[in-house]
Amino acid sequence: MKNNIRFLVLYPLSILYFLLLVGCCQHKPNAIYRIGVSQCLDDAWRQKMNYEMERELLLHPDMTLSRRIAYGSNELQCEQIDSFIRERVDLLIVSPNEAEQVQPAVTRAYRAGIPVIVADRRVPGDEWTAFIGGDNYKVGRLMAQWVTEKLGTSKARPFVVLEVAGLPGSTPATLRHKGMMDGIEEAAPLAKIAIESVMGRWYQENAYEAVSAYLEDHPLPDVIVAHNDLMAIGAAEAVKKNERTMYNGRRKEVPIMGVDGIHPGLQAIVDGKIECSATYSSRGDMLIDAASRILHKEPYVRDTVLETALVDLTAAYPMLKQDEAITRDLETLHIVQTQAESKWKQQRFDRFVLILLMVFFFILFLITLGYIFIKQRKIQTKIKHDIIPQLENMQKAIQLSKKDEAFAERLRQVVDDYLTDPHLNVEFLGSKLQLSRTQLFRRVKAVAGKGPLDYIRERRLVCADELLRTTDMTIQQVTLELCFSSPSYFTKCYKEFFGHLPSAR
Ligand code: FRU
Repeated sequence: MKNNIRFLVLYPLSILYFLLLVGCCQHKPNAIYRIGVSQCLDDAWRQKMNYEMERELLLHPDMTLSRRIAYGSNELQCEQIDSFIRERVDLLIVSPNEAEQVQPAVTRAYRAGIPVIVADRRVPGDEWTAFIGGDNYKVGRLMAQWVTEKLGTSKARPFVVLEVAGLPGSTPATLRHKGMMDGIEEAAPLAKIAIESVMGRWYQENAYEAVSAYLEDHPLPDVIVAHNDLMAIGAAEAVKKNERTMYNGRRKEVPIMGVDGIHPGLQAIVDGKIECSATYSSRGDMLIDAASRILHKEPYVRDTVLETALVDLTAAYPMLKQDEAITRDLETLHIVQTQAESKWKQQRFDRFVLILLMVFFFILFLITLGYIFIKQRKIQTKIKHDIIPQLENMQKAIQLSKKDEAFAERLRQVVDDYLTDPHLNVEFLGSKLQLSRTQLFRRVKAVAGKGPLDYIRERRLVCADELLRTTDMTIQQVTLELCFSSPSYFTKCYKEFFGHLPSAR
């Protein structure tokens, strides 16, 4: 009974407890939206953008990122975009390597019904959902502003500006160039300024090579304007290496301007390698926010153009420190995120073990229930088929033995009353007890274990023994008294019953 209570109450309760425990376990919501990110390059500026996206993503647990990098190859980027289309990502963020070449893939994604956010570098046409990027034309105007500030008045020869350009087919390179040309033209007659260009294609090494080659057969330019900080640093290294920078034993400084205004550029300004830069925001956070708005069908801005500003030595140091702090914050965030992920994985494992245990206990519970059920059925069958009939038999036996006892008593009385009567025989006894000969035989046998005649003889022998012991009667007298046919027969019977002769008394 106790066992039954345990199985029937405790096991279901423990299963309920497990269920509650499992139900209460907090778990990471399943990501619903998959965002494909197609990056043209993987430099410091792009990595900053990626970090910003990851950080913002922490606020959007219903989105996941899948990032692919084209390493400056238009073909690879188109392939990667097409693979995102095949995988049916929910949204595509793309920063195209070269506008014209990557546009077809962007259009394919857009036409396949995938919302497309174009980041930093534009594509022609308007088959995209949103754009977020810097004001490259304004960046060019800032370059022009810096160049004209540097412009000397008393120069006999034209003022030489060396432009280190980004990848020609990318919109920032085109717009930065145009902005600069327009700005310079407005500020000073182009006759006074000679603008020369080399191709850096956004890479530091390319810029170094291009500027070194330029310096081989050109005099030092008055200023160098690079389309990004990495190329500005490359140019600075090329200038530093060139012996023509030595003038009357002193190194001639060539002021250099870059663009981006993040860590490598800021450090170069602080170190005196380049003079200034223009900020160019990456704002990965804004990209994720816009993605979330688009996916959740909330209002969003279709065309976001980010501000830019000049960074000189005064601004560079605090900005560098701030940048370092932000990088540290991002790294910390990354660690926290990794820890949270591993905790979540552990929780998922615990949940799996709990479910296993739950299933195990539930099966055990079912087996136990089944076992109890079968056992009970067996007991019931045994009670029905064995124990109840046995009890009934016992009851009958008890009733029978009571009847037998009464019969034995009456038998003894009748026999004892007529011991000395020579008529006492089977018929006489039968008539006295109102039983047929057969009935009498069966019942006497049942209670005395012998036939009626033997019983009568035994009772007569017991009485004879009593008489011999308690009276002066002789064997002869006793033989007659108890109706034995002869003293010798009496003696024989007596010896047989008592094991000794009557005379031995
Ligand atoms: C980074 C970068 C930046 C530049 C931008 C233009 O990949 O080259 O330095 O400002 O891309 O798209």
